[in-house]
Amino acid sequence: MKTLFGYSATLAAIAVAAMITGCATHTPGGASNAPSITHESFGATSDGLPVEIYTLRNDNGMEARILTYGGIIQSIKVPDKNGQMGDVVLGYDTLDGYLTNSPYFGALIGRYGNRIAKGHFTLDGQEYTLATNNVPNSLHGGIKGFDKRVWTVVEAKVEDDGPELKLSYTSPDGEEGYPGTLKVTATYTLLAKENALRLKFRATTDKDTVVNLTGHSYFNLAGQGTVLDQVVYINADKYTPVDSTLIPTGEIAPVEGTPLDFRTPTAIGARIQDDNEQLKFAGGYDHNFVINHKMGKLGLDARVTDPASGRVFEIWSTEPGLQFYSGNFLDSTIIGKGGIVYPHRGAFVMEPQHYPDSPNQPNFPSTELKPGQVYHNTIVYKFSTTE
Ligand code: GLA
Repeated sequence: MKTLFGYSATLAAIAVAAMITGCATHTPGGASNAPSITHESFGATSDGLPVEIYTLRNDNGMEARILTYGGIIQSIKVPDKNGQMGDVVLGYDTLDGYLTNSPYFGALIGRYGNRIAKGHFTLDGQEYTLATNNVPNSLHGGIKGFDKRVWTVVEAKVEDDGPELKLSYTSPDGEEGYPGTLKVTATYTLLAKENALRLKFRATTDKDTVVNLTGHSYFNLAGQGTVLDQVVYINADKYTPVDSTLIPTGEIAPVEGTPLDFRTPTAIGARIQDDNEQLKFAGGYDHNFVINHKMGKLGLDARVTDPASGRVFEIWSTEPGLQFYSGNFLDSTIIGKGGIVYPHRGAFVMEPQHYPDSPNQPNFPSTELKPGQVYHNTIVYKFSTTE
C-alpha cells in the first residue's frame, strides 16, 4: 500500500476509509484486487504548489493514475487478450516533463477545447480577445489553460460503482481573456463492472461566457510504436471541414467518399497519405466529427481495436462532436514513460467536445453558458479485448 504523504488528516482518513470500504465490498479470495484509491506526492510546480498523484484500482485490477496538476491522466493499465497488463496512454514518469514539454498529454482542457479563430469572439455585443497561442488562432484555453493549473481535491473515496476522485478549479473572471468566474468540477470514476474510466464535468458561471471542456489523453493500445495499424470506427456521417489553419469553414459535410469515413472500421494508416486537401491541412487526421447520437445523452462516439494486442477501446460521450487527432505533431523528440520514444503518429487522441470555433459559428451548437445554467459533459473510456 502507498504511503499517504503530507495531506490533511481529513483527506488521509477519507482515503483509508475508502480502502476499507473497498475491501469490505470485495468478493472473498481476491483481496489484492479490492477497489482502492491512494495518493502520494508527485513533486511541485515552479511556483512551489504541491502536486499529488492519485491511484485508482478497480476489482478487475485495472488501474488509472491521475495528477492534481492539469487533472492529467498519467497512466491507464488494462489487460491485453492474454491478460497481460499494459499502459495505454502516453505521458511522463515525473512532473518535470508535464511542466516543460507536454502537448497536453492526458490533460483536462478548458475553458475552450480546440481552436477559436484569430483569438476573437463576440458575446452579447462585446468583443473578447484571447491569446493566439496556435498562430493565428487560440488553442485549448490559451497560454495557461486548465491543463496547466493545479486542481483542488474535493473528494477521494470508493463509491458503489468504483473508486472516485473529484477535482475542482475556479477560473477567475477574465482569466485568459474569458468573461465570468467559471467554477468547474471534474469527477473521475474507475467503473468496476465495465473496465472503464468515466470523466464527468460540471461547470457554472456568474456572467455569460463560452465553455468547451474535454479530456486530451493520447492512446496507444499497443503501448508503443505507431498507431497506424489500429482500427478505428467513428459513429459519424458528417464532419466539419477546416481551412489550412484548422478552423472550420462552417460547412457540415458528409464523410461519404472521403478518407474521413470511419463508419466501416478502417486502420488509421490505411488512407492517411491519401491525396486529400483535408488530410494535407492537418498533416493527417485532426478533424471534428459530427457524432450521430443525440447531444446530452451518453452514446458511442468511436471504437478502436488493436489487432496485435487484442485491446479494444470505446469512447462514449454526451457531446455533439469528436475531435480525432492522429498524433501528427509527435516526432520522436519526446522520450516518455519508461524511456519510450513517441514517434510520429505514436498515439490517437479522441476529444469529445463541441465543434471548434463555435463562438464564431452561428450554425454550430452553442457553447454559451449563462448564470443559473449548469454545464454537463460526460466522457467514458471503456476497455475490453477481442478474445
Ligand atoms: C488537439 C488539436 C491538435 C493539436 C493537439 C495538441 O488535438 O486539435 O491540432 O494541437 O491538440 O498537440
